[in-house]
Amino acid sequence: MTSRAVQYRRFGGPEVLEVVEREDPVPGEGQVRLAVRAAAVNPLDWKLRTGAMAGTDAPPEPKVPGYDVAGVVDAVGAGVTELAVGDEVLGKTTSGSYAEKAVANTNALVRKPEAISWEVAASLSVGVTTAYRALAQLGLGEGDHTGTTLIVDGASGSVGVYAVQLAVARGATVIGTASATHQDDVRALGATPVVYGEGLVERVREVAPQGVDLAFETAGKGALRDLVTLVGSPDKAITIADYTGAQELGVVFTSGGDPDDERRWLADALPRIADGRFRTTAVVTYPLAEAGKAQDDNQHGRVSGKLVLLP
Ligand SMILES: NC(=O)c1ccc[n+]([C@@H]2O[C@H](COP(=O)([O-])OP(=O)(O)OC[C@H]3O[C@@H](n4cnc5c(N)ncnc54)[C@H](OP(=O)(O)O)[C@@H]3O)[C@@H](O)[C@H]2O)c1
Repeated sequence: MTSRAVQYRRFGGPEVLEVVEREDPVPGEGQVRLAVRAAAVNPLDWKLRTGAMAGTDAPPEPKVPGYDVAGVVDAVGAGVTELAVGDEVLGKTTSGSYAEKAVANTNALVRKPEAISWEVAASLSVGVTTAYRALAQLGLGEGDHTGTTLIVDGASGSVGVYAVQLAVARGATVIGTASATHQDDVRALGATPVVYGEGLVERVREVAPQGVDLAFETAGKGALRDLVTLVGSPDKAITIADYTGAQELGVVFTSGGDPDDERRWLADALPRIADGRFRTTAVVTYPLAEAGKAQDDNQHGRVSGKLVLLP
């Protein structure tokens, strides 16, 4: 059987993405194939597409972008007992999610709650698990953190919204940076909003006279030095988006993650999302064939919220 996928054979701008009809990917041992219902665009997808993170001139083979996915199991590989054809799941793919069919390791998937739509389900895995991981590494893991003040830079983004809400749920006082447009959104998450950009340190000190204990940088827009100034020491900050700044300042840059931890974190977050205790980012949908436009809109901040492709 064949199905459609978006792929690129060379690095470059959004124009290198092409829609092709290809043989359905085959699930290996410990894997399932999904009929994709929705696939989210993450900044990593276009960063990889440009080739800036590669050590080669072109991808070794045609590359289907995308990790975040929601879909229905339509084939199972050898040794799979925990999922069956027809199960509705969300998580991360290994074969690329910008496609009608995608393969995923079963340990990278969780069952999709009925109350969560396909579009929202596809938007969750990377944002939620990154927020849980960074807070744990920052010392704000499970437990009561009353008395701790955290600043989240990029609080309206798809990682930031979950970091804010999780830290608030764990008792922390949270300050969140966002553009002027998103100040009310950040307040609705339970944080005190502050506009990002020049003068950040002074604005934060005004709303947090008690001082700031910890900082989570999610935007990669040059605020890391200010955040370290606010918390007083590089080991009290963490970043997911400013690799160079992290090297310069001695701040931890976190990436990757353990699949078992990630499933545990999704299992903790999904009921809160399903019953409305956690708000999700707004979702804007595009047809699969407009993957290039969606990536470009995300890269240039033209559209707020999570951009989701519908095959
Ligand atoms: N290392 C990892 O494991 C990992 C995992 C996930 C993501 N990331 C990286 O984290 C970054 C954010 O990802 P995302 O999916 O959350 O992106 P996103 O949903 O596009 O959100 C970006 C956020 O940045 C904010 N922002 C824009 N300009 C800013 C500035 N000058 N100062 C502070 N904030 C600013 C935006 O706020 P407004 O909309 O209000 O302007 C928005 O809240 C990307 O670089 C991504 O590659 C890394």
